[in-house]
Amino acid sequence: MSVIEQSYSPAVSAQTRPIFERVAHVIPEVEWPIHAPYVAEIQRLKRERNAVILAHNYQVPEIYHTVADIVGDSLGLAMEAARTDADVIVVCGVHFMAETAKLVNPEKTVLVPDLRAGCSLADSITGADVRLLRERYPGVPVVTYVNTSAEVKAESDICVTSGNAVKIVKSLGAERVIFLPDEYLGKYVASQTGIEIIAWKGHCEVHERFTGNQLRAYRQDDPGLVILAHPECPPDVLAEADYVGSTQGMSSYVERMRPARVVMITECSMASNVSANFPEIEFVRPCNLCPHMKRNTLPKVLESLQKMQHEVIVDPEIAHRARVAVQRMLDVA
Ligand code: 13P
Ligand code: SF4
Repeated sequence: MSVIEQSYSPAVSAQTRPIFERVAHVIPEVEWPIHAPYVAEIQRLKRERNAVILAHNYQVPEIYHTVADIVGDSLGLAMEAARTDADVIVVCGVHFMAETAKLVNPEKTVLVPDLRAGCSLADSITGADVRLLRERYPGVPVVTYVNTSAEVKAESDICVTSGNAVKIVKSLGAERVIFLPDEYLGKYVASQTGIEIIAWKGHCEVHERFTGNQLRAYRQDDPGLVILAHPECPPDVLAEADYVGSTQGMSSYVERMRPARVVMITECSMASNVSANFPEIEFVRPCNLCPHMKRNTLPKVLESLQKMQHEVIVDPEIAHRARVAVQRMLDVA
């Protein structure tokens, strides 16, 4: 457990007031006295440790808008991790994101608030599986989604994220590629590029729950509703969407197009985080939660900084090969 010595004193209230004002639209005022002492202490410890907090777009608003220094999708977080000059990087996301940050920053301390924050896609495949596929399809390039372990990345030619998968697969100039492990993202890439995809049957446990029927029902109820969907969704869902893109892509779409009413077919916190910046836009909010992303809480972030836990370590030989696949992606991206 984290030890929090400060209470919601007048000093903490005054110090955190400007932060609360940024999130007043998404965090009820009655909850602020609970969050504020953690926010104040985390901010202090970040300075003391020269630490930076990277938060994925699915983090709860009280992490995303109050203590995070950099927010974004998997690609944005990987790029920012490669750029930071902090000594310590706390990744509020899931384990593969922290591993990616470690791969591009081998000399820095990378921490995760909860080691159990995994991912159904990353859990669906091992390095041995990739070696078997290479034997079965000799010479076919292996493209791996970043939602994988470092061990799987190490067996791959290049990584992709949802934000650059189409661009990177096209850049290979191959007629067919092995695309791992997200079957639906692979199908989406095939539909956008015409390139033959040899897919794996991995799925995101959050996005696979959406259905085309659900989206058609939204449209019927509200023909003006703009539907944005993440490419981890099944093909019949993507067929109904007005826009398909990464979490950052969806966020940028809202900023650019300012739809009156919008639904984001993705994880639940995404709409809360984007809506904080656009109070005039109405967000329809189906709530599919990612249980892994939700393992991160303000008390665990504080504990992570207090005890410098849980450090992400990657075997140097695996890290070396995995880094090559990630760096190739960053070079193309
Ligand atoms: P993004 O890279 O689009 O943020 O997606 C990461 C993820 O885990 C989606 O489920
Ligand atoms: Fe993995 Fe899906 Fe959770 Fe993203 S939302 S971390 S793909 S389980």
